[in-house]
Amino acid sequence: MHYHVLTLFPDMITQGLGTSIIGRAMEQGFIQLSATNIRDYSSNKHMKVDDYPYGGGAGMVMQAEPVYGAYQSVVEKIGYKPRVIYLTPQGSVFNQSMVEEFANEKDLVFLCGHYEGIDERVLEEVVTDYVSIGDYVLTGGELPSMVMIDAISRFVPGVLSNEESAQFESFHDNLLEYPQYSRPAEWKGKKVPDVLLSGHHANIEKWRREQSILRTLLRRPELLEEASLTKKEKEYLEKLRLEVGRKIENPE
Ligand code: ADE
Repeated sequence: MHYHVLTLFPDMITQGLGTSIIGRAMEQGFIQLSATNIRDYSSNKHMKVDDYPYGGGAGMVMQAEPVYGAYQSVVEKIGYKPRVIYLTPQGSVFNQSMVEEFANEKDLVFLCGHYEGIDERVLEEVVTDYVSIGDYVLTGGELPSMVMIDAISRFVPGVLSNEESAQFESFHDNLLEYPQYSRPAEWKGKKVPDVLLSGHHANIEKWRREQSILRTLLRRPELLEEASLTKKEKEYLEKLRLEVGRKIENPE
């Protein structure tokens, strides 16, 4: 996977992603990251990239031409028109199925805006996907692009070791992850659940699966609509729903 980030702050991207698991994946060649400075494609003698909005109003707008030049430099390098993600609070909200879909691409371009946005005409010309990372407004697209690159990279083959593997974590099967414990077996009077110390693998698996269902019901019940549960697990969920309902009606 090769990520191409078009930005006014390339250092923010390379420094933000250069460490930990993503940094390691770059060193090992599983992913590549190029941050292109949009300012390098300004034709203005002061390297200006923004101007006042037509029609008036607050702030500045990033001009079409430098953004297009930065985009063209990527197209020329890779020889085809890749998917181009524009980070904006007006986009579709990023989720795990989008992560898995984007992870299938060979190249991904992230276009990071600043100021009051980017001239609409260049967006129409180059953008294939409008993506938001949540319903709040950030100062620019750099942090959202890093969030997306981090999440997508976990699904690029080779990036995670077996132990780190994406298979058994939150959102697998649309269920949240079960609680984890490590040594000591007792801390501040709180004991690790007995079953985890029992060495009985089938019981441990059953307990973890039930904890995942319980946690999802309490914290993100809407995810259960899409979860694939066995008949027994569905019965367990119904029992939990009744118990939770009773507790709400008769709090202790
Ligand atoms: N740019 C500013 N805010 C954003 C958000 N919430 N998601 C994606 N891009 C953004």
